Amino acid sequence: MKAVILVGGEGTRLRPLTWKRPKAIVPILNQPFLEYLIDYLKGHGIEEIILAMGYLPDPIQECLGDGTKLGVRLHYVVEDTPLGTSGAVKNVEAYLDESFLVFNGDIITSIDLTKMIKQHQESKSVVSIALTPVDNPTIYGVIETDEHGRVTRFVEKPGWDEVTTNMINAGIYILEHEVLARIQAAKPSMFEHDIFPSLLIDGQPIMGYSSESYWIDIGTPEKYLKVHQDLLRKKGGQFVKVDSTSHIDMQAKVEGPVIVGQNCVISGDVSIKGPAVIGAGCRLDSGAVIEGAVLWDQIHVGKGARLVDCVVATGGRIHDDCLIPSGCVLGDNVELEPGYMMSEGTKVEPDTTLG
Ligand code: GTP
Repeated sequence: MKAVILVGGEGTRLRPLTWKRPKAIVPILNQPFLEYLIDYLKGHGIEEIILAMGYLPDPIQECLGDGTKLGVRLHYVVEDTPLGTSGAVKNVEAYLDESFLVFNGDIITSIDLTKMIKQHQESKSVVSIALTPVDNPTIYGVIETDEHGRVTRFVEKPGWDEVTTNMINAGIYILEHEVLARIQAAKPSMFEHDIFPSLLIDGQPIMGYSSESYWIDIGTPEKYLKVHQDLLRKKGGQFVKVDSTSHIDMQAKVEGPVIVGQNCVISGDVSIKGPAVIGAGCRLDSGAVIEGAVLWDQIHVGKGARLVDCVVATGGRIHDDCLIPSGCVLGDNVELEPGYMMSEGTKVEPDTTLG
């Protein structure tokens, strides 16, 4: 089965991390997000993938090439203007011949796709939608199903008095090829609002595939950080992975789970407390403290600086004795002058100097 991954969105909620690169290739544990997703798809037998792109397509293509290094075949299609989730799939119709998968390009999950495909085939439905539970269904589009799992109703942001289920659309679909005939070419449309509800009105069978497995989208900086904490905690407190090209001083204190990328230099008296990720080419000077933070590449952290539960994108220069507290997100190439203390939850645009 082929898969279409939707990666055309601007990722506005993930700014400032998505000003210089699309959400699809922000690093997850030092690996571009799409590599992570493609690995998962490959694990479920998907070997041909079409990337429906729009915003900043070139870095995605440069990063993944033809897919050989990941063991899959990749095709790239770029929209001139955003076509929405279903319009984007119609736009790649030339690559599709039979049933296929559609994936939102910002999900990390362990949903059992193999089982979902099997259920889809047995149910003979035209569409299957993966469903995942949330704590607060009132801010999502929820999907009601009957006792056999067949979808009976789509309810957009129900009030608490109308809530009958906490299962929401997980952004993973299996579609029969015939559904493409219902999508208008070159016109923006959404599966969630246009195509699925109209199939239901016409009495076409749509199945829900309910799963309690891990599922999160990396759509906001808070969730981006949470994904790291979840994935690292799963590896356990003993997990410390340091690339062989990096040097950590004997006096530095590293408490897992921690990942350190290539060519880093970590001085004595540095303290790294997991869950934390240090990207490639970072330099942490003596007395720096990193706690629960995600650092991208080429970041310099000066003496005595303290970074806690935050994200710092590539090229950050954090001088001596600065503080980056919980919830802060720094875009690319941000510089903090010596002793600068940020407030909790501050977001900083790329190429900014604060001091
Ligand atoms: P926000 O701007 O923060 O809402 O993010 P987003 O642009 O990624 O939108 P959203 O999270 O709703 O999109 C879910 C998935 O669909 C993401 O993987 C997007 O890249 C993708 N997507 C959204 N709109 C389009 C589109 O018009 N074309 C394509 N090809 N993909 C889209």
